[in-house]
Amino acid sequence: MKIAPSLLSCDFARMGEEVQRIDKAGADFVHLDVMDGHFVPNLTIGPGIVKAVRPYTKLPFDVHLMIDDPLSYVEPFAKAGADIITFHVEADCDPDEVIDKIKSFGVRPGVVVKPKTPAQAVFPYLDKVYMVLVMTVEPGFGGQSFMADMMPKVSAIKQEIKRRSLDVLVEVDGGISVKTARQAADAGADVAVSGTGVFKADDPESAMDIMRGN
Ligand code: DX5
Ligand code: ZN
Repeated sequence: MKIAPSLLSCDFARMGEEVQRIDKAGADFVHLDVMDGHFVPNLTIGPGIVKAVRPYTKLPFDVHLMIDDPLSYVEPFAKAGADIITFHVEADCDPDEVIDKIKSFGVRPGVVVKPKTPAQAVFPYLDKVYMVLVMTVEPGFGGQSFMADMMPKVSAIKQEIKRRSLDVLVEVDGGISVKTARQAADAGADVAVSGTGVFKADDPESAMDIMRGN
């Protein structure tokens, strides 16, 4: 698996240095959690912060929108330096329209499903997206427990991607650590987001190596 450390668990007062720290430790992507206080009961980072940390690394920015109105915010996050923008199918939007808008800025689109949303909810978009993100916690906060019961959903989505001979990455997010990464990899995940599992680790490099399966 590739590893995408989530900045939600970094030291917010030193975000640029934190990005450099995980880049040096071998991260594959940088995961940025955007919350609007409506779609989820938390507020986090906006496009201004994405733009501010962009010069600190060349790693792809994987921007996870947990907001009610993704369509209106595609442009500011694309212009701030997002390489991938994922948004929830449960948001108040037409997913096809959001995907097209993301692509119009040369950014890779992805769809996200919350734990209670079935695998089939992403099937209509599989031929248009770069990535599907399966939440393995309820979105909103870092440091929650991994929901192992989401693994059949990961496998079902992966199987449908293979059945249709598509080239779409499956990402998991929430509670991924050296202890839980293996289950996600076995279920078919290609990318694992990890916040506390990387930023709070004594040795982020070896934590990421273990999670990757090295
Ligand atoms: C939760 C976010 C996650 C979060 C994961 O809503 O989408 O990306 O940062 O944090 P950990 O890895 O600590 O569960
Ligand atoms: Zn996330």
